[in-house]
Amino acid sequence: MSITLPRLVVLISGTGRNLQAIAEATLGGSLPARISGVISNRPGVYGLERARGLGLPSTVVDHRAFPDRATFEAELAQAVDRFGVDMIALAGFMRILGSEFIARYRGRMLNIHPSLLPKYPGLHTHERALAAGDAYHGASVHFVTDELDGGPTVLQGSIAIRPDDTPESLAARIMQCVEARIYPRALAWLAEGRLSMRDGRAWLDGRALETPLQYQDSTTENP
Ligand code: GRF
Repeated sequence: MSITLPRLVVLISGTGRNLQAIAEATLGGSLPARISGVISNRPGVYGLERARGLGLPSTVVDHRAFPDRATFEAELAQAVDRFGVDMIALAGFMRILGSEFIARYRGRMLNIHPSLLPKYPGLHTHERALAAGDAYHGASVHFVTDELDGGPTVLQGSIAIRPDDTPESLAARIMQCVEARIYPRALAWLAEGRLSMRDGRAWLDGRALETPLQYQDSTTENP
């Protein structure tokens, strides 16, 4: 009896390091899903090179080719559905999605945001953490809802900020030590049917997550 794996569509806009980590987790077996397609809203980004190198089908739905957000998102949903989809990962996807698209995939679409939500929704999170003199910074995986970076947070990871950190050094370490680990893990819970969103909250193994789970790993830098 062949087990059909859930089909995961990954949306990107840039370098695709999260895509790479997710793809490697599917190849290594820790993420029991099959990436059925990669969609970028921007042509020529390195993430598309990664998709090709990984042998993944990919396409571009260039938001600049559409007169408004509604027609862009209608085409984006068509492209997602053409690949076949059970779940969506926004992986460095830099477009704000409208409520119709979000409703279409509600409860099946996750995003990763480079901050310890609810701190620093929006952009330039590493600069803001440094400017605030925070001791720690991290990333969060959350369900996508109409509230930007505001859906129920599932899993977070954090590391200590170093005195000599720059936004670039901090972003690189967060990507390597946190994002690349927590995103495949949260996606695996979704693929396994252990994770769901109900009544505006995330549920894991039948328990509502009142606060996000915190990723602890011996190889994660000790705060
Ligand atoms: C990641 O830090 C992600 O959290 C943020 O944008 C960056 C995208 O990186 N949304 P990549 O495209 O996955 O390399």
